[in-house]
Amino acid sequence: MSTAPDAAVPLDDADRPSVPAKRIAIGDAADHVKHSAGQPVEIAGWLYNLRKSGKIVFPIVRDGTGLLQCVALKTALPEETFEALKHLTQESSLIVRGRLRAEARAAGGYELDVESVDILQHVSEEHPYPITPKDHGVDFLMDHRHLWLRSKRQHAAIRVRHEVIKSIRDYFDSNGFTLVDTPIFTPSACEGTSTLFEVDYFEDEKVYLTQSGQLYNEANAMAFGKVYCFGPTFRAEKSKTRRHLTEFWMVEPEMAYADLEDVKRVAEDLVVYIVGRVLENRKEELKTLERDTSRLETVAKPFPRMSYDEAVKILQSKGSEIQWGGDFGNTDETLLTEDFHRPVMVDRYPTEIKAFYFQPDERRPEVALGVDVIAPEGYGEIIGGGQRIHDLKLLEQRLDQHQLPREAFNWYLDLRRFGTVPHGGFGMGVERFVAWMCGLEHIRETIPYPRMLYRTRP
Ligand code: 4AD
Ligand code: MG
Repeated sequence: MSTAPDAAVPLDDADRPSVPAKRIAIGDAADHVKHSAGQPVEIAGWLYNLRKSGKIVFPIVRDGTGLLQCVALKTALPEETFEALKHLTQESSLIVRGRLRAEARAAGGYELDVESVDILQHVSEEHPYPITPKDHGVDFLMDHRHLWLRSKRQHAAIRVRHEVIKSIRDYFDSNGFTLVDTPIFTPSACEGTSTLFEVDYFEDEKVYLTQSGQLYNEANAMAFGKVYCFGPTFRAEKSKTRRHLTEFWMVEPEMAYADLEDVKRVAEDLVVYIVGRVLENRKEELKTLERDTSRLETVAKPFPRMSYDEAVKILQSKGSEIQWGGDFGNTDETLLTEDFHRPVMVDRYPTEIKAFYFQPDERRPEVALGVDVIAPEGYGEIIGGGQRIHDLKLLEQRLDQHQLPREAFNWYLDLRRFGTVPHGGFGMGVERFVAWMCGLEHIRETIPYPRMLYRTRP
């Protein structure tokens, strides 16, 4: 005889459920109806909204994968359950069971006829969920970012972000690149000393949060050929613009035996690939975000290419005050791309305004073999990269000119001592890319917990 605690207890026939309800995700509703129509299901979620109409209540439940309208009839449920549902508050947690059917009029296209409900927590009326359908200011919403992520648009943007990240990885993984991680605590600057976050390490040692994995990537490329790193990067940027975060995610490929043209080809190919994946796999989210996808469907190869010199002339003809030698401002980038429905590639910037590691053009050393990819519709620079200096003497000179301590870069100089080759790569900022895909005004909504000049919470 079995003594197991879960040994079956005989049930009256009336209590015995015919088939136990199967837990499914709302996102799989279509699949379920197609393959197991009529079988009972269970949805575990939170109350998004509630409509009432006499003897029926329509709880809209969200479970993180979608929204599902449920139909609860007074006549089909125990009195107590019906009353509890009827007075349920926003974001209360609940499990509903019943049968799914297609319903063209319901958001999402399916409806659940409720047969039973478990309420895990009824959110108190005295202390209701703070985010309601009314308009809240962005500061209020940002202070409640931990809850705001449950809202439709925020949820959609983060799902687009996931697709962007996944497609970046798929792209590099299937194109011969090895993932080699680079450190976050670093002993020296990569992108200029003015945007470094300093950290107290042990025994009075100072380290910095990485601005870019590039320098290590270069070492990794000499070991593996084609590599990429992908992680958080940090800039102590005091700029309070809609494009700047102090902590952002950057993917950085680096290739040995590569020049500026190779870098441009990979950048263009990657961008086209990601846009295609987002359009294909995040249709619903783009709809929620009211993104005009016709502006993304035109993103194809080749991207328009121009030199910095040409870009300056175009900008001047459009009324910009830019002079040769200056860096482009946000408005310049927007002006430059306004005639195109694709990202624009600008190369050969003045060596003076570029980081120490850029390879100068042999024929015109005053310009560097670097390229920026500028997204259309005012989303600005999404990619920066180029060819690196591979000559030891020249690199030493550049370090001196930038007043960077040679000692800290000795390991980096080794790469020019032991089998140096032309090489290059780039960095792409995930958040700027996501802002562009989603058509978001501000970069702060593209990352779950943005870090900016005046925001480090929650
Ligand atoms: O142009 P950046 O500074 O290039 C580098 O860091 C190179 N070391 C990358 C490389 O060649 N491996 O930054 C690259 C990209 C920018 O084009 C932009 O998309 C993003 O990183 N980015 C930022 N995104 C959000 N907030 C900021 N403060 C950003 N700074 C750069
Ligand atoms: Mg840049």
